[in-house]
Amino acid sequence: MSSDQNSTPQNSNEQMEKVVSLCKRRGFIFQSSELYGGVNGAWDYGPMGALLKRNVKDAWWRAMVHDREDIVGLDSSIIMHPLVWKASGHVDGFSDPMVDCKTCKKRFRADDMDGAVCGLKPSKKPGECEGQLTEPRSFNLMFETFLGPVTDTSAKTFLRPETAQGIFVNFGNVLSSTRVKLPFGIAQIGKSFRNEINPRNFTFRSREFEQMEMEFFCVPGTDEEWFQRWVETRQKWYVDLGLKPDRMRLRAHDKLAHYSKATTDIEYLFPFGWGELEGIANRTDFDLRQHQRGQRTVGKWQKDGGELKDVPLADEDAEFAKGKLSYFDDEKKQRYIPYVIEPAAGADRATLAFLCNGYDEDKAPDDKGQEQTRIVLRLHPKLAPIKAAVLPLLRKDGHPERAEKIYKDLKRRHHVEYDESAAIGKRYRRQDEIGTPLCITVDHQTLQDGTVTVRDRDTMQQARVAETALLAYVDDYIEKQS
Ligand code: GAP
Repeated sequence: MSSDQNSTPQNSNEQMEKVVSLCKRRGFIFQSSELYGGVNGAWDYGPMGALLKRNVKDAWWRAMVHDREDIVGLDSSIIMHPLVWKASGHVDGFSDPMVDCKTCKKRFRADDMDGAVCGLKPSKKPGECEGQLTEPRSFNLMFETFLGPVTDTSAKTFLRPETAQGIFVNFGNVLSSTRVKLPFGIAQIGKSFRNEINPRNFTFRSREFEQMEMEFFCVPGTDEEWFQRWVETRQKWYVDLGLKPDRMRLRAHDKLAHYSKATTDIEYLFPFGWGELEGIANRTDFDLRQHQRGQRTVGKWQKDGGELKDVPLADEDAEFAKGKLSYFDDEKKQRYIPYVIEPAAGADRATLAFLCNGYDEDKAPDDKGQEQTRIVLRLHPKLAPIKAAVLPLLRKDGHPERAEKIYKDLKRRHHVEYDESAAIGKRYRRQDEIGTPLCITVDHQTLQDGTVTVRDRDTMQQARVAETALLAYVDDYIEKQS
């Protein structure tokens, strides 16, 4: 359901390697189970990465739920009834075409061979070496699992491949437990799992990842207008958080997923090429209709206990339109199944885009006044893991005590760090690399007049600010950049 890359900018590998290296060096992202040689397609977020990704998700939740009157939140389970995946179309249709190399035994996505490398040395493109490829076969991307101790077909279900279905099956529960009226949305953030054939490009295509999805239910006929509005709203969200507009584009799909009437992707130009950050889809009433049918199939499925592929969903009949997933429109005095616009974003992809977008190198003097290359992560202050670092100039003369007091005051509201470990220039560089927007230094003058220096990460300019005004200064700095 997602597509990626084409044109690749020059020096892309070098640029990407720099970002990956920074992520590891500074505790943003590690390979999963690295100690055991690693697991392909799974990633661990370190201390800085966990904060950054949390800030990305918080910014999304704030924009999509907190700041709006027409969207409510949800946190549904990862494991769901197996019929959910039959009704949604994932059992029968959520697959990629794959080919196997008969010689090196590696498996490739038949529709995405660009950049694929065969297992023989020297490596070539699959099919261009002496290895023969099999005919394409369908490979379902869902991870199977079993509920309880038995492993027969009736206990089989899946780890969810998208969070969206948890929203659709709870549509009736949200309607009956809240005062929402059309148009309204249900939003959730959570893990999804896809057994991707070729996980690659760092976290971009993973097997375990987090989605930020919102299903916006509207009156049929108003869907196209809402679709346009959501494309614009979502694109603006990324720009407001600092993604460079000239590295973003919209791409309308010509080949649509089985549930979609129209889909537009928001793409970002990563160092490895253009990649999808988020897809906005007009899902019509497809999913609610399918679950309306699916829930009426449970009895038959239980009785037969057979393969999900063989279970026919209940037909639509006169009672169908009155089911739990329909909506009674008070104004129209009519019951119908709403249409849905879905902005579906990836928390990991957005985080990766902000990291690539923010990575920069410039020149700055070191502690001896020599110009050196400086690595700086120009993250939006709202996303920066650490908002300010508090640094005593010396480890004596009362500087540490004064700095610790400032640190404790700021810590009540913000993620801040205290560091007295090295020469001041080295400490600034460390904070630049993790994207800390402000460095607050306590020096001799602080003890005389109660002011500190505040250094701006991007301009490296320093201002003297009264200790008593620091909290307001940090607050304003974060807010003014919106
Ligand atoms: N509910 C619709 C849906 O899941 P999708 O385009 O397949 O649509 C939505 O996924 C978003 O989830 C993508 O735009 C991407 O940001 C993220 N995503 C999808 N597959 C991913 C993967 N294998 N690794 C990381 N993120 C992924």
